[in-house]
Amino acid sequence: MTKNIAVIKGDGIGPEIITQAVKVLTRIGELYGHTFNFNYVDMGGCAIDKYGEPLPQESIDKCLNSDSVLLGAVGGDKWNGMPASLRPEKGLLKLRAAMGVYSNNRPAKIWRQLASASPLKSEIVEKGIDFIIVRELIGGIYFGEHKTETVGNQQKATDVLVYTESEIERIGRIGFETARKRNKRLCSVEKSNVLDSSRLWKSVMHKLSEEYSDVELTDMLVDNCAMQIVKDPSQFDVIVTENMFGDILSDEASMITGSIGMIPSSSLGATSRGLYEPIHGSAPDIANKDIANPIGTILSASMMLKYSFDMEREAETIEKAVDEFLNDGYRTKDIALDGEKTVGCNECGDLIVKYIK
Ligand code: IPM
Ligand code: MG
Repeated sequence: MTKNIAVIKGDGIGPEIITQAVKVLTRIGELYGHTFNFNYVDMGGCAIDKYGEPLPQESIDKCLNSDSVLLGAVGGDKWNGMPASLRPEKGLLKLRAAMGVYSNNRPAKIWRQLASASPLKSEIVEKGIDFIIVRELIGGIYFGEHKTETVGNQQKATDVLVYTESEIERIGRIGFETARKRNKRLCSVEKSNVLDSSRLWKSVMHKLSEEYSDVELTDMLVDNCAMQIVKDPSQFDVIVTENMFGDILSDEASMITGSIGMIPSSSLGATSRGLYEPIHGSAPDIANKDIANPIGTILSASMMLKYSFDMEREAETIEKAVDEFLNDGYRTKDIALDGEKTVGCNECGDLIVKYIK
């Protein structure tokens, strides 16, 4: 098969981690007889420097003309002072919206080799951590009106949180379908004791559950969910939640698995064209030091093979290679315990390529 992949390196550690994922995909192509064409696209701070905007139209077009998009990370201190519309993150949000990828799937699964890297007590970890957060990605407060105005003698800032029934319904369906393929338990997370948008969310989820009677639906308030994720993460199978709650809870969920550097994500909409990115940021403090963990990006590439290209076997081969890398005791700095020997970003990529056979 031939696939055209738009690749966005971005900023900070983005270029380093993407280089490793591209190596891995190239090796998979060789092994299974696929041609992956990598088409590099500018987005984020590097695009601001080059074109004066974080996501030029040409970049959007390249992504929309590809079979899927692989992204490193964007952002950095250098662009923090820019006006909101010109921040690197704005490029990412614009791309998600342009691609229509409303459903962001973020797995929180502990690798058995990394159990001791989890900050949770071993008796909690031993009960198992294996759940998925289905995060709504192109609605809610991220995409409502944002404004800052001067009122009297002070500044006033507003961010609007809006959801329509249909936006909730389409992400709800993904939540139910995802649960159906797993342990059939869906937890809908909201703040219905305070927010109208959450009350609508809850009622849509309950209406949908009539169609998915094989899936057990529970409701949880987001503050309680934040607590339950550290108290007993084994209770969760699939969590479905709105954009901002999903952003926050997925960072928390990643941390209990040992490191945010290990977690991939897929974002899909109505077509098979997806956006695949690790859930961590551009980590400018560790950029260009060859210490970043590329595994979240490598596993994102593996998700791309599975969910966009129907290459299940190839995806499993990558997961197996990561598993063997960890089995043989290799660790990047973020997942190493005191005294454990570490490998750099580049060596990590090379080793995982070697395990692909
Ligand atoms: C994420 C990130 C982004 C988000 C930022 C970089 C805009 O935190 O993918 O979780 O908030 O969605
Ligand atoms: Mg985030």
